[in-house]
Order: sequence, then C-alpha cells, then structure tokens
Amino acid sequence: MDRAAIILAAGAGTRMKSAMPKVLHQVAGSPILGHVIGALKGAGVGRIVVVTAPDAHSVRAYAHAQGCESVVQDKQLGTGHAVMAAAPSLKQFKGEVVVAYGDMPLLTAKAFAAAFAARPSGGLAIVAFRATDPGHYGRVLLDKKGMVDRIVEFKDASAKERKTDLCNAGLMVAEAKKFFAWGARLDNRNAQKEFYLTDVPALAKKDRARAAVALVKESEALGVNSRKELSEAERHMQDRLREKALASGVTMTAPETVFLSHDTVLAADVEIEPFVVFGPGVAVEKGARIRSHSHLEGARVAAGAIIGPFARLRPGTVIGEGTHIGNFVEVKNSAIAKGVKANHLTYLGDADVGANANIGAGTITCNYDGFGKYRTEIGAGAFIGSDTALVAPVKVGAGAITGAGSVITKDVAPDALAVARGAQVEKPGWAKRFRDIKRKKKDKK
Ligand code: UD1
Ligand code: MG
Repeated sequence: MDRAAIILAAGAGTRMKSAMPKVLHQVAGSPILGHVIGALKGAGVGRIVVVTAPDAHSVRAYAHAQGCESVVQDKQLGTGHAVMAAAPSLKQFKGEVVVAYGDMPLLTAKAFAAAFAARPSGGLAIVAFRATDPGHYGRVLLDKKGMVDRIVEFKDASAKERKTDLCNAGLMVAEAKKFFAWGARLDNRNAQKEFYLTDVPALAKKDRARAAVALVKESEALGVNSRKELSEAERHMQDRLREKALASGVTMTAPETVFLSHDTVLAADVEIEPFVVFGPGVAVEKGARIRSHSHLEGARVAAGAIIGPFARLRPGTVIGEGTHIGNFVEVKNSAIAKGVKANHLTYLGDADVGANANIGAGTITCNYDGFGKYRTEIGAGAFIGSDTALVAPVKVGAGAITGAGSVITKDVAPDALAVARGAQVEKPGWAKRFRDIKRKKKDKK
C-alpha cells in the first residue's frame, strides 16, 4: 500500500521563547523537522504534507526544499483539526497515512515502520511508550485484548487513568479515507476545547475498527517544547550518533566530548581525539586522525590525513591523502592535495595546493579585498616560507620556493625562488655602542 505522511507543525511553540518556529530549531545540525522527514523517508513514505501556521513561511520553504508539500492550518484548534487541514491535499490518495508531530526529532525510521507493520487490516495503529515520569502526556488505555480502548489527554484524565505509564507518543496510522472520515467526526467537548487527534481510536472502535499499539523507547518519543527539551534531544541524538560511529569501527577515546552532525560520515579506523566538533557535511576516510579541539564543517578528509590539534576546516574544503593540517590552521573552500604539510598558524582560503607542498608557519592567503574573493594556486612540491602573505589572485609554480616573510603579489614561476621583503642591513658594532651610551647616561643620574 502507498504511504503518505502528515506532519503537524502549526503549533505556536510558545515555550521555546523564540522568534524562529520550533520545528526549525536544530538537533545535531539539522532542523527538528528534518529529522522527522528523514525518518519518514527511511520508512518508505512517498508523500509528506507538512501542516503549518499561516505566518510560518520559513517552515514551508524548508519543507519544500526537502521535497515535501505544505498546507496552512488557519487557526490552531487542535491536533485533530490540524490533520483535517491536510485532507484536501490527500483527497485522491488511496494508501495509508501516518500522522506525526513535527517536534519529535528522535523518532527513527524503524519506529515508523513498526507503526505501519502493527496496523490491523481496516484499523489503526498508534505508537506508545512506557514513561518513567508520564507527566502531561496523553494516556493510552488498553482493553482486555491489549488493543487500544481509547486515549485520554492528561487534562481530561481521572486520577486512576493518570496512573498508567503507557503514554501516547503521537504517531497514528490508518487508511487515508477512513482517517479523514473519523477526523471529520471529531468534536472539541473536552478540557482544552480542542479537536483532539487522540479521540480517533475511540471513534474507530465504534465502527469496530481495532487500534493496535507499537511500542518505542521513551527516549525516541521525546517531544521538544522548550530549550531544555531541545538540549535533552541533542544529548540523546549525540549518544545515538556516537554509538553508531563506534559500532562502525571509529575510535573515540572520549566519545562524550565529540559532537557529531546528523550526516557525519566516518569510515572505519578513523580516530577522533577528545573535544572535536563536526558541523554538517563532513566525511572522513579510513585511518584519518582528527586531533583534539578541531572543528570541521563541510569538509572531506581523505585516508590517513591528520587534522589538528586545534585545526578548523570550513565549508568547501577537501584534504588529500596523508596530508597534515596542524595547530591553529584554518582552511576554507580549498583543495589541498595529498601529502601536503601545513602544520602551524596558517590561513588557506580559496586555495588550490598541489601534492606534497610545504606550507610554512604563519602563511596567509590574502583572499579578500573587502569586495571579492580571489584564488591562490600553489603548485605541487612548492615550499612556502614561513610568514608568507600570498596576495590573491596569485600562483606559485610547482617546486617554487618563497622566502620567509615575503609578500607575494606576482605569480612565481615553477622552480623559482621569490623573495619579497626588505633587504637586511647590518651595522657592525652598533649594538655595543648603543648599550655603552645608554649605560653612561644612566650612571650619571
Ligand atoms: C499531544 C497529544 C498527546 C501526546 C503528546 C506527545 C493530542 C491531543 N495530544 O499532546 O496525547 O501524549 O502530544 O508529545 O494530540 N499542532 C498543530 N496544530 C494544532 C495543535 C498542534 O499543528 O492546532 C502540532 C504542534 O505543532 C505539535 C503537535 O501538533 O507539533 C502536537 O501538539 P502539542 O500541542 O504539542 O500536543 P501535546 O499537548 O504535546
Ligand atoms: Mg507537544
């Protein structure tokens, strides 16, 4: 059966105290909504409709960029009402629909797949979890056969009903046609005067349609409503990403100090020292070593390279095999070929560096004049003397050498030496004479 999803993301998100819509806040370098979309795609969902608030242009733009559709829920009258805002878009849709909340970044493709698998023919499936502290979650009440009798919202639940630790995670699966038929029958006669999606199982039961439960871990069901919950979601996600990396053959001496992005790709035998941060878009090939206190973002690191300690790789960077990028070296939008050494205090921006070049300490590519960005080319095997300023656009030929302290403004031919600095002047005995005069003056006082 074809699968579609409705993601509810029109809520106000008041508790975030943010100008940015809640679902665009990031967990592991991706908006919360992106995690939900990713999990749905992973579970084979073809069409995704995101329900948004009228003013949430940025949410719609993001949803479209991810290949989703969007609809507007004019007024936030509850989760059941929000689902019905998507009904016109899915009117012709013949398959099954899963409803998910847009603020649950930890749900996995597996959880969605379990929900689809649990749905009895003609009926529903919901996803639930056993909570250590059930708090304000909706409670799932089961019948004798272990099927859902109904879901009761915390504010509407009796003291006895609140005692159950089986909580509604906020995923529901049903055939589209039936779902919308039940949705149209919801009312708002409850404590919050809202149209609750969670009343659907009770309505279905009246039609003799059964509702099954798929269980997930509590940590998967975490919904983000506040900055505190955002930080908790980040913590859980980081643990998950670290475990995945370790299981795939990555060495991390202190994994709890390494921060990964949702899309970080680390090959087997990569070694990550403590206190490393990976922004989005990083791939590291086998056997490379990322040393302490390095920060990488939008960069590819080839096999056997050594990055850091204290290195920064910025977007558009490609580091070749066995290349060394050392302490206090920043590389941006540059292709550094294999076997290069740039070990100390250097900025390489908008540069192409050939194989086995040696970049001396304190080398700076002067790539920006306040208006445009310009490229620097350094040929294979070139030797850039310490404290060279390369004023781009400029090329240093293969095998060329620049003298330490040079400001290189013109292209350097292959195998040439370029020196561009003040000539050294030497005055014999000057220092001694200077000291003698100064001392005499001091002694007179
Ligand atoms: C909901 C469930 C509750 C469950 C909990 C899990 C209902 C009635 N209750 O409660 O059983 O345990 O989630 O976290 O569904 N939204 C809209 N439009 C609206 C209202 C909400 O799009 O009119 C969206 C929100 O943006 C959010 C999601 O629906 O992404 C859930 O809404 P929220 O108000 O957070 O529901 P809870 O009270 O947490
Ligand atoms: Mg919520």
